[in-house]
Amino acid sequence: MRRNIVHEGSRNLSYEIREIVAIANKVKELGQPITWENIGDPIEKGEEIAPWIKEIVHETIDDSRTYGYCDTAGVPETRIFLTEMVNQRSGGTKITPDDIIFFNGIGDAVAKVYGFLKREARVLGPSPAYSTHSSAEAAHSGYNHLTYKLDPYNNWMPDLYDLRNKVKYNDSIAGILLLSPDNPTGAVYPRSVLEEILKIAREYDLFIITDEIYSHIVFPGYPKIHLSQWIEDVPGIAMRGISKEFPWPGARCGWIEVLNRKKDPNFSEYVDSLLAAKRLEVCSTTFPQMVIPKVMGDPRYPQHLRHRASIFSNRADELMEHFRGCPYIVLNRPGGAFYATIMFKENVLNSHQTLPIENKKVKEYIETIVENAPPDKRFVYYLMGSTGIVVVPLSGFQSNYPGFRITLLETDDTKRNWIMKTLRQAVDTYVNS
Ligand SMILES: Cc1ncc(COP(=O)(O)O)c(C=O)c1O
Repeated sequence: MRRNIVHEGSRNLSYEIREIVAIANKVKELGQPITWENIGDPIEKGEEIAPWIKEIVHETIDDSRTYGYCDTAGVPETRIFLTEMVNQRSGGTKITPDDIIFFNGIGDAVAKVYGFLKREARVLGPSPAYSTHSSAEAAHSGYNHLTYKLDPYNNWMPDLYDLRNKVKYNDSIAGILLLSPDNPTGAVYPRSVLEEILKIAREYDLFIITDEIYSHIVFPGYPKIHLSQWIEDVPGIAMRGISKEFPWPGARCGWIEVLNRKKDPNFSEYVDSLLAAKRLEVCSTTFPQMVIPKVMGDPRYPQHLRHRASIFSNRADELMEHFRGCPYIVLNRPGGAFYATIMFKENVLNSHQTLPIENKKVKEYIETIVENAPPDKRFVYYLMGSTGIVVVPLSGFQSNYPGFRITLLETDDTKRNWIMKTLRQAVDTYVNS
């Protein structure tokens, strides 16, 4: 090429959750049946959509407007509906329909939110990190994503000392990102933690981004707190969507709620640029937007959410039971979403450990790919070769802690029990090999 056409940030685009699929497909080709535990798609794992939600979807498609473009920010009635929901939450910061902007899923919102930030302005996010955010933020800046630590020895809560210091000593940081419930850890932050983060944001004049894709999958006994309920007067963006809670990930439908836009002209101008960027694409998907008020406004919806949260909560208990007494790992019971992170304790892993692999060709392949692999990836590859279970290594979530993420999505009770039991056996066997 006459000019180098590769973007500076391109090397930061990685998504281990999907990248591991290429390896798993190869293992499958060589004869090892695969059990996918890598991706957070409830549909893929056999969840059936509630019949009443399907009925609403069917009825809505009869409305010819679902076939057309909609306003750039989204369908006006839906934005009014969502605005009322935000404003009805007790003690919440108030918004107007102009503060709701639709995207083709949070994935699209993430690309715009980081992509249209000034290059020198950085957003500090958690580690372990969800790759969509960390990769997009890193790609926007051309540098590695900046992170604060989540503490495995404190239920994966943010290390507030680390967070404060990162902000204090790096004045390029303009915003703080948090996910609650979190992916990959499933941690749900109590109000006291959120208020500490708010203090830091206010003190250093930062904005806050929350990813609330799992905010309606919070297990019994854990707090359900939206950004609008704790942000007070600080500018912020909450990202919401229907991928996980209807669940309807294939709809590619999500939105942002902009909070306290008027409090800062620079923040307001930035939000204008997000809408301008969306305008170049005309609009986001109309059809799912038209479904949202009908489903979320239905009297059956709160029970639907409670029911699903309790299912995942019970599966979290099953997982804890399977790993009870395991001396090699740290496993914090998740409080929401549908993931759990199993972290290996320090000095537990080495580069000689293996798992037995019966299939000779698979064994040969695994033995070649584990060379120079990070310690947790080595375990994940052996696990795949030996059992066919595909999990995501924690090092793929920009984490220095070795471990792996599994989902709580398997709907078949027998299969789920087998997955959890096999994982426990694999950890014990690998560490002692
Ligand atoms: C934390 C988090 N945010 C966003 C998404 C993707 O959301 P969407 O389907 O709306 O793009 C995911 C998907 O796994 C996720 O885990």
